[in-house]
Amino acid sequence: MEDHIRFDAENCALLLLDQRKLPLVEETFVCRTVEDVVFALQTMVVRGAPAIGVSAAYGCCIALRQALTAGAYWMNELGRLLNLLAQARPTAVNLAWAVGEMRTAWGGAHDPRLLAGVWLALARKIQADDIAANKAMGRFGGALLNDGDTVMTHCNAGALATAGYGTALGVIRGAVDMGKRIAVIANETRPFLQGARLTAYELHKDGIPVTVACDNACSLLMRRGLVDKVVVGADRIVANGDVANKIGTSGVAILARHYGIPFYVAAPSSTFDLDTADGGLIPIEERTPLEVTHVGGARITPDQVPVFNFAFDVTESALITGIITELGVLYPPYTSIAATIGQRACT
Ligand code: MRU
Repeated sequence: MEDHIRFDAENCALLLLDQRKLPLVEETFVCRTVEDVVFALQTMVVRGAPAIGVSAAYGCCIALRQALTAGAYWMNELGRLLNLLAQARPTAVNLAWAVGEMRTAWGGAHDPRLLAGVWLALARKIQADDIAANKAMGRFGGALLNDGDTVMTHCNAGALATAGYGTALGVIRGAVDMGKRIAVIANETRPFLQGARLTAYELHKDGIPVTVACDNACSLLMRRGLVDKVVVGADRIVANGDVANKIGTSGVAILARHYGIPFYVAAPSSTFDLDTADGGLIPIEERTPLEVTHVGGARITPDQVPVFNFAFDVTESALITGIITELGVLYPPYTSIAATIGQRACT
């Protein structure tokens, strides 16, 4: 699946498979303005760290066209629109990274026609590079899985969360491509249900055996010996190896350590933020309470009762068996992150 993020260059429109409606309805959401792209990012029409980075890169192309309506002030307006895109969601660093790459390529140059060409090519490159990185992770990570393994994953770190192939699901696809028989347990991932809706959707489509489990079944499944390995994605990996990922991930990691199950993270170098020292400094997005208080439009909690809706948590690096990147696999104590990932993630 590589056609869920498309850019219609002729009409300067971003076409997104609407992930809010999956798996029941496959519908395209069209973004023609930066405000449309920000809406798509914030309401999770498109979600997943690399996917929001790719979408924001195309969002910059839309921003340029929109900014030109400001006439002589187009450069100021463009700067403002890029800020809107970069700040649409705070935790996944790929978003700010992608807008930063586009900003660097602009460099304040004054010819908008030239910039339009440069940006379109760069956005397409960010998209293609992400697929290539995922396939490389699939090769490195696929080698870590054994024939017959059952792999638990949390949230959706698949094709839908990236430009294609996936990070955590890319590792599973890599192992399957090597001829290994892999079964997957997809944690349902309350409240947005990325596991139940999206991971199950794309693995089932690919014919990879997948079973959905309630988030709170994790301990029982591990205790019964039904989980051989855990592989998850990441929204931000900081200098000491701490990892922000979907809320609930750290609980899965703690349980995996308790039951002696290897816990792997798969992420491209665009997910690394080496300017942040440890996970306690990562901004954690808080989303609308409605995602928790309502299911399918119907209220499930008493009116007036407050709820927590933190979208991410941080898994300490000490709980992580290995971090699979497109450049190789990193192992504790993660002191080699800077050497392996280098400056690429920080620019
Ligand atoms: O809120 P979401 O759905 O954007 O969160 C996504 C995740 O937490 C994914 O696990 C992460 O972005 C890795 S995607 C390859």
